[in-house]
Amino acid sequence: MAVEQTLSIIKPDAVAKNVIGEIYSRFEKAGLTIVAARMMQLSREQAEGFYAVHKDRPFFNDLVSFMISGPVMVQALEGEDAIAKNRELMGATNPKEAAPGTIRADFAVSIDENAVHGSDGADTAKQEIAYFFKPEEVCKRIR
Ligand code: PPS
Repeated sequence: MAVEQTLSIIKPDAVAKNVIGEIYSRFEKAGLTIVAARMMQLSREQAEGFYAVHKDRPFFNDLVSFMISGPVMVQALEGEDAIAKNRELMGATNPKEAAPGTIRADFAVSIDENAVHGSDGADTAKQEIAYFFKPEEVCKRIR
């Protein structure tokens, strides 16, 4: 299996619940390493740019407003099959459909405030990591 990098965001609802450490622990137990991280208060422009692909969806404005409602924790994760592994840990977009034991099942209450974001493919992962981190801010993993 290939070593990949993926972008993860712990969203304002989960930051407010004080579960950053709990979520990091799940990443680490699954074999994912944090290779870049930054706590940020996103501006409206940053959130709109990040979710530009969804700009015509009915939930776009609410999604942007939610993502700027408080600080987020943004990280790049590295590991074997990191993109799929992170999405498995996250669970389904709608927490009501998320498998028990997933981050969204445990920490999210609704599809509008669903605790975490994770890149959905290799191209998206590259774009999303570059959206938040300069190449030199993504550390080489110590093996
Ligand atoms: S889709 O339909 O497959 O494009 O949706 P998806 O990529 O899973 O989700 C798009 C992002 O929008 C967030 N969001 C919502 N999606 C669907 N319906 C509603 N009402 C909604 N509200 C917010 C959803 O969590 C996805 O955000 P990220 O950050 O990518 O998880």
